[in-house]
Amino acid sequence: MLWTEKNMSEETRHPAPRRVLSGMRPTGKLHLGNYMGALKNWVELQNATNDDGTAKYECYFFIADFHALTTDYAEPSELPANVKDVLLDFLAAGLDTKRSTIFLQSEVPAHAELSLLLGMITPLGWLERVPTYKDQQEQLKEKDLATYGFLGYPVMMSADILVYQTDFVPVGLDQAAHVEITREIARRFNHIYGEDDREILPEPKVLLTPSPKLPGTDGRKMSKSYGNTILLSDPEPEVRAKLKTMVTDPARIRRTDAGNPEICPVFDLHKVFSSGETQAEVRAGCTSAGIGCIQCKGWLADGVVKELAPMQERRRYFEAHPDEANAILDEGAVRANARAEQTMREVRTAMRLARR
Ligand code: TRP
Ligand code: SF4
Repeated sequence: MLWTEKNMSEETRHPAPRRVLSGMRPTGKLHLGNYMGALKNWVELQNATNDDGTAKYECYFFIADFHALTTDYAEPSELPANVKDVLLDFLAAGLDTKRSTIFLQSEVPAHAELSLLLGMITPLGWLERVPTYKDQQEQLKEKDLATYGFLGYPVMMSADILVYQTDFVPVGLDQAAHVEITREIARRFNHIYGEDDREILPEPKVLLTPSPKLPGTDGRKMSKSYGNTILLSDPEPEVRAKLKTMVTDPARIRRTDAGNPEICPVFDLHKVFSSGETQAEVRAGCTSAGIGCIQCKGWLADGVVKELAPMQERRRYFEAHPDEANAILDEGAVRANARAEQTMREVRTAMRLARR
């Protein structure tokens, strides 16, 4: 079952804050698609409060460096720089150590320990059936992904989630199947090791992140692999230059041709970054050939730059204070380790790994 913020808040009217967890692979600097499809939503969950002003959720957000190795084990040299970039993007986007626990996966060894233990009870067939398994192997043909680690990736993701006894996992639709297998693994664990129907590992629920359609500058889905992205860290002139080259309604060749915003990728971005008024002006101006595409893209750039400005200010702060950024991961590791250890004590006892 997919959960939305709406039906969730009904269930959690008198709550101890529910735990929310999500992670991201460090693949380099994040772009607008990553932001709108994940990070922006995380920040909203972090900042959500109850009527009395207390935080609605206890949030854990992490950089999934172990996960990066499942596909990039042969060339890990860029990993440290990518971790640093993603951390800066997290902080720039507004994740805040006062409200969320922000950490690096490999600094919480319990992820690896629980991953190993869950591997004991996970049937191979469940992993072979995960849709992304064969897909990704096909798509990343240049890499040898016939490895134990790559097949076991959903087990590790399950461990990431279950080690905090997480209630809600905000992810996009592409990751929903992984949360489903997490639920199955938790159920199997509880069935085998639970006593008196006590759930040691509660089944987490997907909190589906609404992801608006975000095209890149070439009109295809914004994606690092297409080289069509606008980065959260792109300076204003770069944002404007990139948008200026963006593809438009191909039928609008001359300035005097009327265009159709509904099939123009530039307009898809207006829907996300421009006010209703601006959108109406674009619609009217485009369909009557009253405005040119360059002007239209300038308005779009204004909206994008406005969204990015506060983020870039925070980024500059943390770039100037790298020790503070580092300290956030240190503190995050301490908090995450403490919470994970609480779960692991129960897990070890249940699996009879405790001496008494
Ligand atoms: N697999 C996720 C992705 O590729 C990242 C991830 C790893 C994750 N562990 C997680 C997301 C746990 C949510 C919860 O985007
Ligand atoms: Fe697209 Fe704007 Fe040009 Fe119309 S005016 S075709 S919406 S870029």
